Amino acid sequence: MMRPTHRHGRLRSIIPFIAAVALGPLAVIAAEEPALESGRDIYRAACASCHGSDGRGAPASLTTLDTAPPDFTDCDFANREPDGDWVGIAYEGGPSRGFSEFMPAFQGTLTVDQAQMAVDHIRTFCTDKRWPRGELNLPRALVTNKAYPEDEAVITTLIDVDDPGAVLNKFVWEQRFGPRSQWEVVVPFGWLETQDTIEDDGSTRWTSSMGDIAFAVKHAFHHNYEKGRIVSIAGEIIVPTGDEELGFGNGTTIFEPFIAYGQILPADFFFQAQVGGELTADKDKAPNAGFARCAFGWTTTSGQFGRAWSPMLEFTAGRPFTTNADIQYSAIPQMQVTLNKRQHIMFNLGARIPLNERDERKTQVIFYLLWDWFDGTLLEGW
Ligand code: HEC
Repeated sequence: MMRPTHRHGRLRSIIPFIAAVALGPLAVIAAEEPALESGRDIYRAACASCHGSDGRGAPASLTTLDTAPPDFTDCDFANREPDGDWVGIAYEGGPSRGFSEFMPAFQGTLTVDQAQMAVDHIRTFCTDKRWPRGELNLPRALVTNKAYPEDEAVITTLIDVDDPGAVLNKFVWEQRFGPRSQWEVVVPFGWLETQDTIEDDGSTRWTSSMGDIAFAVKHAFHHNYEKGRIVSIAGEIIVPTGDEELGFGNGTTIFEPFIAYGQILPADFFFQAQVGGELTADKDKAPNAGFARCAFGWTTTSGQFGRAWSPMLEFTAGRPFTTNADIQYSAIPQMQVTLNKRQHIMFNLGARIPLNERDERKTQVIFYLLWDWFDGTLLEGW
């Protein structure tokens, strides 16, 4: 786990821990004489022996065993996980999500509702309300930006299957700072099929280059878990690092401000939207432009807490601010799926289908591989 702040304290007594693991959660509860009416009671009876009555991890009970319980008072850690993940861990045990077996399964001891009540109590340990809840971290669409500030690495690939061919990749590194902000770096690179001007016999060859690198900052200025919404403002600077001659860049600096909005809808549906503009330094190289994007989606899991599948339908509209330019519309049906047990590595596959100007614009295949790097390394949690 990449959570250095939780590895605190040294072992004082492993006896309660050994008892807990050996006898199972039932023994933990029985030993505490339960009055399991409130989340607090359930937490005290079933969880506090390891997690501590204050949520910081019981007297450092597990450190010699390699895995310490996390610090639930640490808002940076505690707010990003949605309830569903935590109830799943409590119900099915640590290994169900690729975590330590020292986190026992309470299935058969607690009902799902009771596990939820214990998690509700865990939520009271972080008292700083500035941190947006993990539920608002909606599945990432292929094109529409998320409003949620993230610790993610994403590599998106767009393939032009028609003549001339193109394979364009975009590597994005996103990192949170403070409760609601995030910076990111975008590095595009790819391969383009071009006419071979040396041979000049109509044959083509592939060239490769890096594109225009971009730097962005995003800030969630509004979020409300009860209302299920989050709104962010962001600004991106795209610098002309790409080889314009080869077709890998705009040849001018572009400033891209945008607003992103995420909304949880009933029955596991969600909606995301992004509206922004592109202001260019040199209008001869690239015109100013505006865009609007949105994504409707729905998430379902295999079994109660298993792999998450999120089909989405995205619509995009973009228009360069030049005379006679039309708005270009596209639809992008897609499916995101979590790949590993911890569900912090995801894949999304879709197709960008032009809805107008279909003679000049072709359908493209788009996919990404996403790594939520705060939740573990690439090799963890399988
Ligand atoms: C026997 C000790 C023990 C008991 C009892 C216990 N836990 Fe844990 N729990 C752990 C350990 C150890 C971890 C850290 C696992 C890891 O990081 O691999 C953990 C991690 C967790 C996590 C964090 C998962 C994440 O996202 O990092 C949650 C949530 C959790 N426990 C909930 C509960 C709840 C709710 C209860 C009571 C119903 C409970 N635990 C009882 C030992 C325990």
